[in-house]
Amino acid sequence: MSKKVKIGIIGSGGIAGAHVSAYRKLPFVEIAAVADVIPGKAREFVDKHGLEHTAAFDSHTDLLAQSLDGVSICTPNVSHHRTTIDSLRAGKHVLLEKPMSVTLAEAVEMVQVQKAAGSMLTLGFQPRYDPNMKKLQDIVQSGRLGNVYYVETGGGRRRGMPRGTFVSKRLAGAGAMADIGCYSLDMALNTLGYPRPVSVSAFTSNHFGTNSLYHPEADKFEVEDFGVAMVRFENELVLQFKISWAMHMDTLGATMFLGTDAGLKVTPAGSGPWSGVWDGAIGEMTLFHDDFGGHTSTAVPLIGHSLNLFDEKVRDFAEAVRDGRSAPIPGEQILIQQAIIDGVLRSAEARREVSVELP
Ligand SMILES: NC(=O)c1ccc[n+]([C@@H]2O[C@H](COP(=O)([O-])OP(=O)(O)OC[C@H]3O[C@@H](n4cnc5c(N)ncnc54)[C@H](O)[C@@H]3O)[C@@H](O)[C@H]2O)c1
Repeated sequence: MSKKVKIGIIGSGGIAGAHVSAYRKLPFVEIAAVADVIPGKAREFVDKHGLEHTAAFDSHTDLLAQSLDGVSICTPNVSHHRTTIDSLRAGKHVLLEKPMSVTLAEAVEMVQVQKAAGSMLTLGFQPRYDPNMKKLQDIVQSGRLGNVYYVETGGGRRRGMPRGTFVSKRLAGAGAMADIGCYSLDMALNTLGYPRPVSVSAFTSNHFGTNSLYHPEADKFEVEDFGVAMVRFENELVLQFKISWAMHMDTLGATMFLGTDAGLKVTPAGSGPWSGVWDGAIGEMTLFHDDFGGHTSTAVPLIGHSLNLFDEKVRDFAEAVRDGRSAPIPGEQILIQQAIIDGVLRSAEARREVSVELP
């Protein structure tokens, strides 16, 4: 493709600005259009960002009628399904912000439409672009740990509860489990090659979000701020998954992979009350093994880099569109973690273990 890659942005709230900033670093990309359902909001956004040649629309369907190669979908979770399906049917490639959807049924339909349309559907998990995530995957998949039978992942913020659309059941669908849990799941599952889950037993609560002492929108807080789940997979593998937007604790611990020959402990980078979850890069990685006649641990040397992971995910999508490559983080794969999140919500509501049915 020698012409510029023409991109549209659907949803002009908080994260759309990061997409604009990343696309602007790519000389082969033109941000051709922005849309938001709130009348006038896309126009304001375009003006604020000095996007002189960018059209603004009050509806994503008007944006999709334009000649565009791809779209970034930056709407609240509940709108991911409709906007993605409409974009794929309009022949656009899609970079969809996480989490994929709210329910498994939505995600299944999104993948069916993507296959029928032949366009690309990729998910916005920027931590994948930390080169140390690849290193982690290489270590686990090399067989160095032996048979991996237990994984613990997730994390917790001491205080880090978002507001607005994130805490509305109608707009977000779910809380911490979907918002930041999806990163933990992607990190652990991608490392393992996305094994297939068979059942989930979960508990969720919202003691902090609904308390005005801790949250300014406590009267509007409808989602979970804490959740824990035990997920069983095929092949005798279990995963314990725990996530907290707020808690009276410093950390919910590291991610760990227990294998029959060695164990691997991984901690996230970052510090401060919003850290401790997998929405960024790897901080430390340690291998625990028995060698030299005793218990030994080895600090895995990390790859130093100065990559902006968010810019990397946007660049990869735009280059894939330009070069006709397949989706960097395919919807078909992320469907599997959506099945887990769906199972968590169903299990927490039913107060029992539920099975996970994958298509
Ligand atoms: N990858 C990341 O680091 C990251 C960070 C923050 C948020 N996110 C994700 O991005 C999404 C948006 O988050 P945000 O913080 O920008 O939310 P936000 O509420 O600030 O903005 C969302 C915007 O979408 C608009 N919108 C809703 N439905 C629409 C539709 N059908 N067509 C057009 N516009 C529509 C809303 O009016 C709003 O302006 C969420 O799914 C969130 O999980 C990702």
